[in-house]
Amino acid sequence: MIKYALLFLFALTFCSLQAQVFKLTPKQEADINALIEKMTLDEKIGQLNLFTSDWDVTGPTLRAGYRDDVKAGKVGAIFNAHTAKYNRDLQRVAVEETRLGIPLLFGYDVIHGYRTIFPIPLAEASSWDTVMVQEAARIAARESSAAGLHWTFAPMVDVARDPRWGRVMEGSGEDVNLGSAMARARVRGFQGTDLADEATILACAKHFAAYGAAKAGRDYHTVDISDRVLRETYLPPFKAAMDAGAGTFMTSFNEVDGMPASGSRYLLTDILRKEWGYDGFVVTDYTSINEMVKHGVVANERQAAKLSIEAGVDMDMQGATFYDHMSALVTTGKVELKVVDQAVKRILRAKAALGLFEDPYRYSDEKRQKRYVLAPEHRTAAREAAGKSMVLLRNDKNILPLTTDKKVALVGPLAESQYDMIGAWHADGQGKEAISPLTGLKTVFPSLQHVSAADFKLDGTAKYLDNARIDAAVDAAKLADVIIACVGEKADMSGEAASRTMLELPGRQLELLRKLKATGKPLIVIVFTGRPLVLGEVAGLSDAMLLAWWPGTEAGNAIADVLTGEVNPSARLPMTFPRSLGQVPIHYDMKNTGRPMDADNKYSSKYLDGKNTPLYAFGYGLGYSKITYASPKVSKTTFSENENITFSISLQNNGDYKQRETVQFYYRDPIALRTRPVLQLLTWRQVDLAPGQVASVSITVKADDLTYLGPDGKTPTLESGRIELFAGPASDKLQKVEVNFNKTSN
Ligand code: BGC
Repeated sequence: MIKYALLFLFALTFCSLQAQVFKLTPKQEADINALIEKMTLDEKIGQLNLFTSDWDVTGPTLRAGYRDDVKAGKVGAIFNAHTAKYNRDLQRVAVEETRLGIPLLFGYDVIHGYRTIFPIPLAEASSWDTVMVQEAARIAARESSAAGLHWTFAPMVDVARDPRWGRVMEGSGEDVNLGSAMARARVRGFQGTDLADEATILACAKHFAAYGAAKAGRDYHTVDISDRVLRETYLPPFKAAMDAGAGTFMTSFNEVDGMPASGSRYLLTDILRKEWGYDGFVVTDYTSINEMVKHGVVANERQAAKLSIEAGVDMDMQGATFYDHMSALVTTGKVELKVVDQAVKRILRAKAALGLFEDPYRYSDEKRQKRYVLAPEHRTAAREAAGKSMVLLRNDKNILPLTTDKKVALVGPLAESQYDMIGAWHADGQGKEAISPLTGLKTVFPSLQHVSAADFKLDGTAKYLDNARIDAAVDAAKLADVIIACVGEKADMSGEAASRTMLELPGRQLELLRKLKATGKPLIVIVFTGRPLVLGEVAGLSDAMLLAWWPGTEAGNAIADVLTGEVNPSARLPMTFPRSLGQVPIHYDMKNTGRPMDADNKYSSKYLDGKNTPLYAFGYGLGYSKITYASPKVSKTTFSENENITFSISLQNNGDYKQRETVQFYYRDPIALRTRPVLQLLTWRQVDLAPGQVASVSITVKADDLTYLGPDGKTPTLESGRIELFAGPASDKLQKVEVNFNKTSN
């Protein structure tokens, strides 16, 4: 027993050592303590305020006069201000015109690129390629740091299972493990190995926590989930981000168990600080302290300020509740000074880790800005990333890839769009710098005919195309060898405050596709979207369907690469595509229930008017080649705590193209003390196979990889018994092997 207690203590100490996200020297720590000694209460409170500039509006209120606040030492950080020149000038005010000269921290939503825009995060996650995703974040950091930024409000690591929620585009989809891997990759990409390096920026894991579980997919709506679901599904990507060194966390707008996250001591102190040992700083989401009044847990903003700082918030984003009330709260003894000191210290440690005390202007560098922002090599990387992120959903009779002599009719409302290509949350990305599908495809199909639909506005339900445009598209289609139709959502239809109650193609796009199909010409549909859509009829009408998501600055070139076979598509869905809205939320790791689906039994878990299965399952995606899998094998069929199983599968490229294949490994624990999902992603491996090539892919499986949170809802547990292991190309195309776990200890 004592041995286990000691082990546990050791594990705890080790965990908290792991959680030291800022590695400061003893001198830096001493300097910070000395600085805090010198600070007046007002100067301390100043560090806790984050205000937006008037450049960009990302929330409902705008607090004017931020420059005066900087001069008065009442601001610790500014967001939505960028470019080397502008931020250098504002930094000068903080450093030269305030009593203590504490540098500002500049933040911005650099979500999928700063100026060179990469595919939206959900698209990047479709690559399942953590090296590529890390590189995309590194490039974003290199560009934004040169433009005066120190801090990105990314990665968004919210697990999301409801495509009605517009913010699914910002995350990595529905899976805990894929999401955790992407979280780690992005944090490492933004922060590198040394935060003080001029080309790295501070990451922010957001939105802590469970924002993705908003009821009915309506943004900002109530979250009501069990502690088990919180810990099993929503928290692991945050823990992964912390373990990768994420310097900051952002609270979420929603409540969890009746308490808004920005006032949740349970989330911010009990879990984040005490259980996980986190030592970075916590910023709120935009005015989310103030919003606790409307949530109805406090009567006014003063109470809200007290609740949130005592819960564990360090910095107030844009709400000015600390700015307005903290001084009175401390001087009347309602909030202890040491609580403020602790928050100040965490923020100053972040500034020190960035090297801002040595050189506050290090990140505002016009020369570097000119060199790196939208650099040609960044565009090349964005093109490659976009190609790796597009999911081929259908390819009847191998109509793709196309030879470049084809006479193409390019139609559809998104064909000539530049702005929509960079999607929502595009930071400093400029539509005019993006390659439209038209521009990209024209360069590879010289005889392409295009029918414009550019000037049509989208208002969700009303006209998206008029009759004349539809007729013109059909006329052009009749003269072509092949039709390419660019359809989907416009960029402002996903993202924050962009929830939808319908998941079909908006406007008259389906009608357009039906008429195009009636011409009898092969129809290739390219879908642009920030979320899974209901695509059953679209799939039925198309000969090939490519999910391009919102591909970023190099959209059109990457589409041309994929359609011509220059790039062989290899992406896999990170979110299930439903057949109908009524199936939502639908995800691959459902529970079995006591009455699993049985077509012959009315009283089983199913619908009267539709299937349980999705249109496209998690992990699904096609390539141009044909890959065949042999049966999976295990090195042994029983194992205990200290033993590994080697789980392997061999596969062969039986087609004509070089193919990247993502081999997926899943498991199921069919009998446990608490119910477990019918499948869980264990890990995956990517292999590049030349035509004819055979490869054997192996992973090592050990008990620790298979645990769940036992009956107490906290302790990783695995009981003795049968485990099912699966391998294959998608969550609905797996082969199974059974093994037995023999637990030898208690
Ligand atoms: C969003 C955050 C974002 C912040 C600052 C909020 O509305 O929820 O994700 O970082 O605005 O722009």
